[in-house]
Amino acid sequence: MHRDLQGIRVLLTGASSGIGLATALQLADAGARLLVTARREALLRELRERLHCQGRQIDYLAGDITDPAHRSRLLDWVESHWSALDVLINNAGVGALGPFVRSDPQRLQRIMRVNFFAPVELTRLVLPLLKQGTRPAIVNVGSVLGYRAVPNKSEYCASKFALHGWSESLRLELAPEIDVILISPSTTASEFFEVLLATDGPDSRLSRHGMSTRAVATAVVGALRRGRREVILTAGGKALVWLNRLCPALADRVIRLGMPPQVDR
Ligand SMILES: NC(=O)c1ccc[n+]([C@@H]2O[C@H](COP(=O)([O-])OP(=O)(O)OC[C@H]3O[C@@H](n4cnc5c(N)ncnc54)[C@H](OP(=O)(O)O)[C@@H]3O)[C@@H](O)[C@H]2O)c1
Repeated sequence: MHRDLQGIRVLLTGASSGIGLATALQLADAGARLLVTARREALLRELRERLHCQGRQIDYLAGDITDPAHRSRLLDWVESHWSALDVLINNAGVGALGPFVRSDPQRLQRIMRVNFFAPVELTRLVLPLLKQGTRPAIVNVGSVLGYRAVPNKSEYCASKFALHGWSESLRLELAPEIDVILISPSTTASEFFEVLLATDGPDSRLSRHGMSTRAVATAVVGALRRGRREVILTAGGKALVWLNRLCPALADRVIRLGMPPQVDR
């Protein structure tokens, strides 16, 4: 199945930086029409100006995706400007580092609100508009850590496992009318590690490198074009997922070997 991206109407969250920004640029290049959102309005305005100069169609609405009123504003905008939606990309997300034993309920709730409840509720809201769309699709940006958890990221892993499980369920419920695509990157070089909700432990120094946001965006665009159901990124990411499926105890050992020795478990 091939999806033509020319002229499609896309709502994309988390477009002010990282994977979301790179995805916005590639989708605009492919001729998509975009409504993007995130909290940092100045960055969204900059993106709009940059793409308008190239003759691309993009609008933005700034706000916090965990705020139901902001999600309603996004719905109203799509209804009044497009009357239908072809693609929703749930990309906005946050992380935190540190052992669960030293964490607090607020951290867990914040991560679950941004990474799980917000995309789920945004999807619920726009589903009727997606049903009116052309070859509609929902893209959820998960993580390899939504297939195999690691220590010191328990809340983040839980949020991405939840997104993974919900995506699988939704895919079967909505097929064949709406595609549900789960993109699961490995570590990606973005602002993600600069804006962690907590950095309690030495793991934070591990994460400055990784694949490029452009490569993740290329995977998102490719998966949309080809109607893929899920994409796990990088050979290392795939190897970890398969090792965990075939021999979880060995995956535990491999992950423990990669852990900084001074982590307080
Ligand atoms: N970087 C990695 O290693 C990695 C690996 C696997 C998966 N991922 C996933 O990829 C997605 C994008 O992450 P990234 O690496 O591109 O990180 P990033 O550069 O920090 O981008 C995160 C985006 O989410 C937005 N956002 C965060 N909280 C928000 C909120 N409450 N309301 C609205 N927007 C919010 C941010 O915009 P504002 O701050 O302007 O609101 C930003 O645009 C996330 O879902 C992340 O979990 C990342």
